[in-house]
Amino acid sequence: MKKLAIGNDHVAVEMKNEIKAYLEEKGYEVINVGTDSSESFHYPISGYRVARMVADGEVDGGILICGTGVGISLAANKVDGIRCCVCSEPYSAKLSKQHNNSNIIAFGARVIGVEMAKMIVDEWLNAEFLGGRHQTRVDMLMEIQDTQELKAAKTE
Ligand code: RB5
Repeated sequence: MKKLAIGNDHVAVEMKNEIKAYLEEKGYEVINVGTDSSESFHYPISGYRVARMVADGEVDGGILICGTGVGISLAANKVDGIRCCVCSEPYSAKLSKQHNNSNIIAFGARVIGVEMAKMIVDEWLNAEFLGGRHQTRVDMLMEIQDTQELKAAKTE
């Protein structure tokens, strides 16, 4: 992953800027599609923008930050092909890539500090999807998305 999109709402402008600068220093290209203002900004706009870019293959992955990470991740997960995981610590961030093949990571500027956010993005960006049995489960997620059903869940 070398090219990333980052998005945020008004609560997370400062954290967005710090994470963007941190990743750029490490050699990543980071495209900012969030707000740069402290004026109230609806998080679904940034969630959608980043998700669209990831789903269309314009970037290799995305980072989303709002107050909790919840609203903005919900918006992103409405876009087909998106697996956006809210993480407040690095272990879940790493596993979200290894097991769930997350393509966007989200967190909350009101929940964690910027140093924790840096650890989260580092673990996430350095992890690889493990495939195998995890691919089977990710395929099930995509089956639910595509058909609104899951064959394996049928009882009769
Ligand atoms: C904004 O007040 C807040 O609702 C937003 O940042 C986020 O936490 C939503 O999930």
